[in-house]
Amino acid sequence: MTLRAVVRGVGHYLPARVMPNAEFEATLDTTDDWIRARTGIERRHIAAEGETTSDLAVAAAEAALTDAGLRATDIDALIVATSTADFTFPSAATMVQARLGMTGGFAFDVQAVCAGFVFALAQANALIVSGAARRVMVIGSETFSRLMDWTDRSTCVLFGDGAGALILEAGEGSGTPADRGVLAFDLHSDGRFKDILHVDGGVSTGTTGHLRMQGKEVFRHAVEKLAETAHAALDKAGLSGADVDWIVPHQANLRIISATAQRMQVPMERVVVTVQDHGNTSAASIPLALSVGRDRGQIRPGDLIVTEAIGGGLAWGAVVLRW
Ligand code: UT7
Repeated sequence: MTLRAVVRGVGHYLPARVMPNAEFEATLDTTDDWIRARTGIERRHIAAEGETTSDLAVAAAEAALTDAGLRATDIDALIVATSTADFTFPSAATMVQARLGMTGGFAFDVQAVCAGFVFALAQANALIVSGAARRVMVIGSETFSRLMDWTDRSTCVLFGDGAGALILEAGEGSGTPADRGVLAFDLHSDGRFKDILHVDGGVSTGTTGHLRMQGKEVFRHAVEKLAETAHAALDKAGLSGADVDWIVPHQANLRIISATAQRMQVPMERVVVTVQDHGNTSAASIPLALSVGRDRGQIRPGDLIVTEAIGGGLAWGAVVLRW
């Protein structure tokens, strides 16, 4: 018998305000056409004043609990992947834990920027297969709108706010790739690339700071590294691109998403794409896409899914799971 971390429920939350590309045309030297053509983004959701990352996370968590038919007290461990926690500390995860009424277990944040959900999913899997936890909720929640320099057209048009949540629970498998649950993962980071994507503020400056990105450089790394890590994770699972039902990629840029799919020899009909509606929601983008993909009827029980992401650090990786 092999212990597997099996998906039990999924949910998401998006702030009410939708900001279409055209809104940028009033304040910046940009166009709806440029943003669509270069990124695939058409609109994004923006958190209301006072609406925080933990608020978004709680709403997504409640949706996932309802989907799973569970109560917060049924969860042993809660991980929030975020780079935009409400405060330096406590963690967003402990704030969400309290708001959900989860009085036992433990909660902590994972900070791997846009790759945060992939890292958190690997961590949740480790907790379950080691027997340390039976049910783990993994949330990706971000308010990147608060990190934007709204005068920088090369970054502020790219990002949005949102949250998604996945509940994993221990299940018995046979130890083969036919099992449901997390089958393999592949994680990397290389801190030498810190300058190409970073926030120029924090405890050392006494400010929140703004996101700064050398877009072309990040693009180059993304196209090269995402297919590589996805292949490595599939290899570890004893599978190949031909076995994939859905790629559920980090949603940063449609050109990166399609270049990665092409390198994996997976047709775009087998890729869950939400970037047009959400923009880049950093660690929230994959759980949002999983939840939306499930709601659209794309992702079904038994489907083989590959998630992959890259972000600041650089940090990148992929997870292979059977839904
Ligand atoms: O989630 C973390 C990972 N992040 C990413 O994956 C983002 C990776 N990078 C990208 O998605 C792309 O590099 C961008 C979308 C950021 C930029 O697209 P690009 O095709 O690489 O454009 P570029 O940076 O080479 O810029 C081309 C031109 C420049 O003008 P010049 O120098 O050729 O005159 C930019 O100043 O486009 C200009 N530009 C814009 N023009 C209109 C940059 N932003 C805009 C804009 N509207 N919003």
